[in-house]
Amino acid sequence: MTKKTAIVTGITGQDGSYLSELLLQSNYTVIACRRRSSTNNLERVTHLLDDPNFILTEFDLTDPSGVYQTIQKYQPDEFYNLAAQSHVGTSFKQPSTTFEINTVGVTNILEGIRHYSPHTKLYQASTSEMFGRNYSTETDGKRYQNEKTEMLPQSPYGIAKLAAHNMVEIYRSGYNLFACCGILFNHESPRRGENFVTQKIVKWIKDYIASGKSPDFPKLKLGNLAAHRDWGHAKDYVRAMWMMLQQETPKDYVIATGETHSVQEFLDLAFKSVQLNPEDHVEIDPDLFRPAEVEYLCGDPTFANNDLGWNPQVSFEGLIQDMLGS
Ligand code: NAP
Ligand code: GDD
Repeated sequence: MTKKTAIVTGITGQDGSYLSELLLQSNYTVIACRRRSSTNNLERVTHLLDDPNFILTEFDLTDPSGVYQTIQKYQPDEFYNLAAQSHVGTSFKQPSTTFEINTVGVTNILEGIRHYSPHTKLYQASTSEMFGRNYSTETDGKRYQNEKTEMLPQSPYGIAKLAAHNMVEIYRSGYNLFACCGILFNHESPRRGENFVTQKIVKWIKDYIASGKSPDFPKLKLGNLAAHRDWGHAKDYVRAMWMMLQQETPKDYVIATGETHSVQEFLDLAFKSVQLNPEDHVEIDPDLFRPAEVEYLCGDPTFANNDLGWNPQVSFEGLIQDMLGS
């Protein structure tokens, strides 16, 4: 396989770490972009730091000159933009920062590629959150979202990501760049951030067991348990990102399992698998409800199945077991 160079942003996060592993295994040089931080946040990529093909670079999406210089210097074959303010709840508290990173930051990359490295293929991390409150309905009543479903985002995060999604489309059609978006539904793993609901539940279970099931252990506080999500495994989803950039033409794809579960179902299954009952340990906290909620996500990945040959390997139950480490 010929050696390729890829810039990957967001390498301190869940997807960036898995994608870096996949690219290194596939004979890539990875230009691993992280923003400067005063504390060490490299724990998800510690095992990659000694690899000579993993080149750590400082990079902040909101700084255009740094973005341009990085693109000009490396002229990569592929660019995977996984960096974002990725927490939906936080986007209600920091809407302007969210827009600056998730929309203006993406525009900086598009401008950098257009001016300094137009042969570079771009993957942009779009999201099912862009669908917001909308879904399509099949004749048998099944509700789902796919590439044709209209997007009606319900959060500053969703709006910022949709603006970036549309920006990518303009640069693809207007400047003929190879730029595409993966509309990824929720995906989790043992490397998921602790502020997302699945990892919050799993971490509480592990900490509670480690405490010797102390009666004084604080309860698990959660918000809306009725929301439905289509949850897959991050390892499956980074494979789809790579597959999208190996195509002849750039296209956007929905990446999902096609199954949906409520937060309550995730909670029940995780607790049950360690012989605990959530009713004894969970407290509903009204402060954890969002000002606007996406109640139902269920992706239809038919286009990715047929056009990319992509299929998820890990089931909902398998995901929970992997996160629990059992
Ligand atoms: P994550 O774990 O929260 O990682 C986000 C990464 O972005 C972190 O490495 C973070 O760095 C970096 N970042 C934030 N602001 C930055 C800036 N201004 N400049 C440079 N880097 C910055 O997210 P993830 O779950 O891996 O998701 C990857 C991407 O896919 C994100 O764009 C997310 O919005 C999108 N997405 C995720 C899912 C999902 O279910 N996981 C679904 C659809 C789309 P620090 O360590 O410095 O904070
Ligand atoms: N985070 C969190 N914390 N969510 C909670 C809690 C809680 O204590 N209690 C209930 N929830 C509900 C949220 O209201 C939401 O309906 C659901 O659990 C999932 O929340 P998150 O895990 O924070 O994920 P998300 O769906 O909002 O966003 C994730 O998926 C998007 C794709 O649809 C993120 O990874 C986004 O970056 C990604 O784009």
